[in-house]
Amino acid sequence: MAHDTQAINRARNLFGDQQQIWLFGYGSLIFKADFDYLERKPARIDNWSRRFWQGSHDHRGTPGAPGRVATLIESPGTVCAGMAYLVTPEVFDHLDHREKNGYLRFTTEMTFHDGEQAQGLVYIATEDNEAYLGPASEEHIAQHIFSAAGPSGPNDEYLLRLADSLRDLNEDDPHVYSIEEHLQALKKD
Ligand code: BEZ
Repeated sequence: MAHDTQAINRARNLFGDQQQIWLFGYGSLIFKADFDYLERKPARIDNWSRRFWQGSHDHRGTPGAPGRVATLIESPGTVCAGMAYLVTPEVFDHLDHREKNGYLRFTTEMTFHDGEQAQGLVYIATEDNEAYLGPASEEHIAQHIFSAAGPSGPNDEYLLRLADSLRDLNEDDPHVYSIEEHLQALKKD
């Protein structure tokens, strides 16, 4: 799949002429939104897990030294906690541009803390995109993140802010917390 996913995403008109759409965030969207939204609340999606398996050439790394950022992998029986935003369709033009390094729009069902559910949209970098890095041990991922930086800042800032935000939400994520632990050890050395 092409490295720049903007054209594919523009053609994925998954919600017709709906003017308010729920967006599920599981990465930097948990702690930062650089767009207007109508509502924001914690949510989860079932049967997906967060993994730092996607390469970042344009935010937390460079083309010559990509960083590692989050994507989702299908994982029956697991839950991925995140943050949902109710947004208008223009937000997707902005996100298509911001996340053009391999992420595609998909529909998903999300569940809010009160048990209510909604259909919405999530961006996922699948393994067929050119920037995909794939699995590695959490120790290796931490070493990689420790040494990477890009136009949006150091790669470790992204991981550490995400871990803090998940803790604030009282959510467990063994993958993220294990990378965080390895990263803290590297930063102490
Ligand atoms: C997020 O959930 O933070 C996110 C991740 C990848 C693309 C867009 C949003």
